[in-house]
Amino acid sequence: TIGNVAEQMNYNAFAVGGFVRDLLLKKQNLDLDIVIEGDGIRFAKTLANHLQGRHRTHKRFKTATVILPDGFKIDIATARLEYYEYPAAMPTVELSSIKLDLYRRDFTINAMAIQLNPIHFGMLIDFFNCQNDLKQRTIKVLHNLSFVEDPSRIFRAIRFEKRMDFLLSPHTKRLIVNAVNMELFGKHHDPRYFNEVKIILSEENPLPAIERLAQFNLFPYLWPDLRPHLKIDRRFRHILTQAHNAISWYHLLYLEEKCRNWIVYLLAIFGRSGQRELKACCTRFKESPKTTEFLLQEKAMADRAINQLARSSTYKNSQIASLLEDLHIEGLLYIMALARKNHVKKAVSLYVTTLRNMEPELTGKDLVNLGYKPGPRFKTILATMRDFRMDGLAESRDDELVLLR
Ligand code: CTP
Repeated sequence: TIGNVAEQMNYNAFAVGGFVRDLLLKKQNLDLDIVIEGDGIRFAKTLANHLQGRHRTHKRFKTATVILPDGFKIDIATARLEYYEYPAAMPTVELSSIKLDLYRRDFTINAMAIQLNPIHFGMLIDFFNCQNDLKQRTIKVLHNLSFVEDPSRIFRAIRFEKRMDFLLSPHTKRLIVNAVNMELFGKHHDPRYFNEVKIILSEENPLPAIERLAQFNLFPYLWPDLRPHLKIDRRFRHILTQAHNAISWYHLLYLEEKCRNWIVYLLAIFGRSGQRELKACCTRFKESPKTTEFLLQEKAMADRAINQLARSSTYKNSQIASLLEDLHIEGLLYIMALARKNHVKKAVSLYVTTLRNMEPELTGKDLVNLGYKPGPRFKTILATMRDFRMDGLAESRDDELVLLR
């Protein structure tokens, strides 16, 4: 459809970027990026009409998103036609706009396109021998100023390298080292950079990429006050590995509460530091007040719970639950990553898998039927019944009724 609509409008349409890369690697990619040689916004409106979808436009950037009825999103960008004026009497040269669009991209592996217009449908467009880099499993910039133009690409390079098990080309590696030495980031803490770090921390296994961030000496830029972690030492590596194990364990439980992995890793990175350092990082990268607050609270509650739980291995289940009940899954997994004592990890895993979901069988309605007057006392009674259940003192409704009397 995309190609047909473009053809009718006399435009060229191309699938580009990560979609093409993953298609050639035979990997699934559900983000479809389209570049239009023509008016991308007009195209998006027409396409949305054709597909009974909605569209959002960003006029300033000449981009749009079409959202199909099933939620599938298509991002549409406009490739501008650029004219190069040669001095004197030379003619003005029109540079194919898709070529320029691809040349401006981050890495060769992301700089291929596929024609979507019907006559050439499926034709791979590869101006810069990108396919070869994909075969060689190499991450390579398209030009020397790539990181100067957009330093966030340094994080992207590391992410792609580790995600796909590729290697940075020696030249690209040198450009990164130079960019870091030149303090390209300077004092500029763009939230976009941190966003790329969050994407790294959301990868299936971010540990190799975190090691790479350290190798490229990016820790002092990201978290300068994190003294013990400016270099990765044994304990730091252990905490991160434990975070990875805890997250993998949680995902295997297939529970409903979604876990934001990057939060667990970030908390783990700040595991041996205080609130102050974590807060400074959020402030520096202009993290939203909501997320900052969430991070700080989880850290504070989790650090407190670790200390308490570490003191004794004979807590009753109800006591474990009351120490952990205000934490979200990210904070709970952070405890599992950081705790040195086995009984602390066990307590958290018991809480996540079992205690958290325990409820008494008796309800408020039962209490009314038994002649209790509704009121705040109900909550206390039901909480006590829940504690009995957790501690194995009540296993059935009858047990609860006996204990109530
Ligand atoms: N891009 C770029 N420079 C950036 C960000 C993006 O050149 N700083 C280009 C790349 O060509 C990339 C495309 O925009 O392929 C889409 O970006 P994005 O969706 O962030 O990345 P993907 O390559 O699709 O990677 P992912 O699989 O992680 O979504």
